[in-house]
This record gives sequence, structure tokens and C-alpha cells, in this order.
Amino acid sequence: MNIQNKLAPVPVIDLQAQRARLEPGMSEAVLRVLAHGRFVLGPEVEALERQLGDWSGAHCITCGNGTDALELALWSLDVGVGDAVVMPAFTFAATAEAAVKRGATPVFADVDEASFNLSAESCARALDFARRAGLRPKAVIAVDLFGLPADYAALAPLAASYDATVIADAAQSFGATLDNQPVGRLAPLSATSFYPSKPLGCYGDGGAVFATDEGVAKKIRLLARHGQGPGRYNHVTLGMNSRLDSMQAAVLLQKLSVLAEELPKREAVAKRYDAALKGRVELPPRAANAASAWACYTIRHPDRDRLGEALGQAGIGTAVHYPRPVNRQPAFVGQPVVPGGVPVSERLAAEVLSLPLCAYLSQRAQDRVIEAVLAAV
Ligand SMILES: Cc1ncc(COP(=O)(O)O)c(C=O)c1O
Repeated sequence: MNIQNKLAPVPVIDLQAQRARLEPGMSEAVLRVLAHGRFVLGPEVEALERQLGDWSGAHCITCGNGTDALELALWSLDVGVGDAVVMPAFTFAATAEAAVKRGATPVFADVDEASFNLSAESCARALDFARRAGLRPKAVIAVDLFGLPADYAALAPLAASYDATVIADAAQSFGATLDNQPVGRLAPLSATSFYPSKPLGCYGDGGAVFATDEGVAKKIRLLARHGQGPGRYNHVTLGMNSRLDSMQAAVLLQKLSVLAEELPKREAVAKRYDAALKGRVELPPRAANAASAWACYTIRHPDRDRLGEALGQAGIGTAVHYPRPVNRQPAFVGQPVVPGGVPVSERLAAEVLSLPLCAYLSQRAQDRVIEAVLAAV
């Protein structure tokens, strides 16, 4: 038997190490919710929205999950039938799902090889293509893939020239910065997810929309709460039910209290991997003007599947985000793709592999990951 098989596995994401750091405060916070009994939109939700608003410098509306957050952002722009929503093909399916749920047409553009994020050049072609196809380009969703903010300085004027609004799909990037500006105000609207594995994750489902404009924030709150208000049982517009519950908010408040301490630790793990793996695999993208939230540490290798298998045998957890571009997911086949296709997205889907990363990954565990990768490539 390989000696490494006797060691404890290194999971790709370890939530228990963080929980140990946060106890007993975490359990006490959850018990406080059980005691006060305001399980939905209770005082923890209010406190969390305030703190997230302070962190981001934008108005924060919490909701049920990141997919709802994207849909609410699109809804607040009245995106619907006949509208095009340009987005990268290399993303999680939820980005496209939100647009289709609003009745709009997703138009898949390619990503940049250097950032894995929406290519401004491909986005420009997709906007032009959408208009020529008779659609109104209403929104561009830029995805901060793996925690690295997209190139908003390039995308914003492009979208504006079509009267379209940029929405940040910040599901993976809460905590990141671009030009020292926090995620939440990098675009007029940002949507994040608090799914457990995210840089700021709860112990269930959760999400939030950030809006830089107060009026838009009010509209989103109305849409997320059954179109209700002012007052109860006064439904002034069609809405949906998308709420964060108080237990998840209590969990998030505990986790937010250590996020500023965790982000540099995540960066330190990434730097250590970079130094050890440089020249042996293709390292994850970085940007000189950005600090990633490091939702994933994702390398590229031409023999990705074999590498993943070898790491698995050495007890190292890995993940493939994502094995195919969204335009080739059966649910989205037939939706328009930018002329020229999405060759970079295709290449990435064939080559990416995410390695274990969390703020509490011991140096010993990091060394095991490094040794296993070096042995396999
Ligand atoms: C890029 C991206 N967008 C949207 C979502 C949707 O978030 P949720 O799972 O909270 O609905 C995710 C979640 O994995 C994501 O990674």
C-alpha cells in the first residue's frame, strides 16, 4: 500500500476546520436564534445586511441563494422577453439559468485565457451579434470566476454603449477587491452566493444582491419579498419569495467576523502553491490590480483527468469547475453563442483542476498537495 493512503485525506474544501476556529461562538449564535424564534428575516438578517453594506459600500439585500440574487438583479432592470443577456460560457449554469427564468436570451461569449473571466473583445462581438439578431442587449453578466474580479473597467463602457447594465456575478468573489474597491460596488448590481463552499458561506443556502443605487435597492427588496409594501398584505407588484433565514444570517455574522483575517491566509496558501508548482503546471490567473477571494485554486494541465486520478489515489481531493461550457449543457443547447465560438472556454473545460484550499489548510497538508502534484506531472 502507498504510504500516503494511510494519511487522512485532504478534502478540496474543509469546512470543519473553520468551524472549530469559530466555536463556541457559532453554536451560541445559532442557539440565540432558537431562543428568540424570529426564524425568517429576524434581527440577525438586519445586522448582516448592515455589516455587508458597510463592507461593500453598497446597499445589501439578502435573499435565498445566489441564483435568486442574479434573477433579482435582472428583474430590477426589467430584463425579459426579447432582451439579450451577454455572459461568459465558462461559468456555473446558474448564471444562464437566471436569464432564461426572466424570459431573456443568454448570449454566450468567450473568456480571456489570462483571467478565465469574460473577454471584453468577445463581449463586444456578442453585443453586436445580439443587436443584429433583433434582440435588445439589456445586461452583461461578468462572472468573477474562482474569486478573481472581472475586468469591469473594460466592460462598463462597452455595456454602456449599448445601454446595457453590467451585473457582477460575484457568487465566488465576496471579499475580493479590484483597484482597492470591494466586490459589491464594482458594478451597479452584484449578486453573491453564501453556499457553504463559497469564501463567505453559510450552513445552507443564502445569497445577496448589492446595488449602488438606493432606489434600485428598494425595488429589489420589494421584488424579493412578494412585492409587499408598504405595510403587510399590500402587494404592490409581482415579486417572489427569496429570503435569508435568521440561522443562516447568524452563521454568516460569525464568519464575516473572521473574513478579513481569512482572506490573507487564503492568499498565502495560493502563493505557496504558486512558488512550488511554477513551471510544472499552469498556475491560476492573477491580476496586478486585484486581490482574489480564492474561492478555488485552479490549475491547468493538458492531462487533467489523469492528474485528478493520481491526486485522488494520494488522498488529495480535487474538483473540476467546470467540465464543459454552459452553451454545451443540454439545458442551454440552442441558445446563441458569439460568432467564432468559445474556444478558450472549451480549452479551460478540458484542462482545469481545482486543488484543496482553505484558510486553515496546514502547511503539512499543503506540502502533501504539492508533493502529490509534483509526483504526478
Ligand atoms: C458563478 C456562480 N453563479 C451563481 C451561483 C449560484 O449560487 P447558488 O448556488 O447560491 O444559487 C454559483 C454557485 O455555485 C456560482 O458559482
